[in-house]
Amino acid sequence: MKILLIGGTGLIGQEVQRLFLDKQIHCIAPKRDELNLEQPESIDACLKNYQPDIVVNCAGYNDPVKAENEPSKCFRINRDAMATLADGCHRQQAILVYISTYRIFDGSKKEAYTEKDIPNPAGVLATSRWQAEQQISERCPRHIILRLSWVISHRRTNLLKYLLDQISKEQEVAVVSDQQGCPTPCDDSARVIVAIIQQLGCGAEPWGTYHYAGAESISENRFAEVVISEASQFQDLKIRKLRMDKLNDRNGIQAPANATLSCRKILSTFGVHNKPWRGTLARMIRSYYESGSS
Ligand SMILES: NC(=O)c1ccc[n+]([C@@H]2O[C@H](COP(=O)([O-])OP(=O)(O)OC[C@H]3O[C@@H](n4cnc5c(N)ncnc54)[C@H](OP(=O)(O)O)[C@@H]3O)[C@@H](O)[C@H]2O)c1
Repeated sequence: MKILLIGGTGLIGQEVQRLFLDKQIHCIAPKRDELNLEQPESIDACLKNYQPDIVVNCAGYNDPVKAENEPSKCFRINRDAMATLADGCHRQQAILVYISTYRIFDGSKKEAYTEKDIPNPAGVLATSRWQAEQQISERCPRHIILRLSWVISHRRTNLLKYLLDQISKEQEVAVVSDQQGCPTPCDDSARVIVAIIQQLGCGAEPWGTYHYAGAESISENRFAEVVISEASQFQDLKIRKLRMDKLNDRNGIQAPANATLSCRKILSTFGVHNKPWRGTLARMIRSYYESGSS
């Protein structure tokens, strides 16, 4: 199987590449100067050049705040490029695996979201992701859409890195108590992506949309408390107080209040169990301090 990975330099893409290497699965991961999602001709050229059997897209425009100020760029990268990619994959009979997000839901549901729930995205970024999913479903029947909950890592931009940076530098850090999600370590996300790809490589044809999330849901303020408790073993933290806000107090586009995703379908189809995140969180926090990211 020839695998083409788009977004191999990103948070999840790097972990996917690392796992492919561990498992001796060959993948081609063109950098942005070869495959730029803003240039449709570069997408077509890569597909033609490499003739992949499976294309995995971990790339995209991911800043919800900036997206409100440059919607056309966000839609070009997240939606229009996925339409081009889906057409190309369908033409060449390649499978398209697309990594999506809980943000396509409005977060008003009290229970975990299932794949049957109707998306209702708020804001430019979430709308572009939902429209990308729709383009892929319409244009490339042989696709897998994998929606993830709160992806965490001690690197790059995500909730865990934000909290670690803030509690090291600030005496007071604002968190919200009315937002719930499932921390999903980025290496665990990669494990699931690679497990799905391996089954596709064995001829499975379970096309459609799946959810994956770490195996425990928690509010943002409780998650911050867990992070502080772990981090305080490594550094004398500056933080003295967690300021409890409400989602409504935050400016701009709000993230969904509920980012909890049900993982029943991915378990019954692929046999993928969702893993607890607390052990990996402790390891990531250790790496944050040992790598000098603080
Ligand atoms: N991170 C989260 O909290 C989270 C949560 C749920 C779902 N997800 C989903 O997971 C996916 C990956 O997220 P991530 O956090 O791993 O992303 P990330 O770290 O922000 O990485 C984005 C990737 O996209 C590439 N990229 C951006 N613009 C591009 C362009 N015009 N042409 C080609 N490549 C471009 C970047 O390449 P450069 O290195 O060249 O910039 C980078 O490899 C996203 O689809 C997101 O919806 C993420």
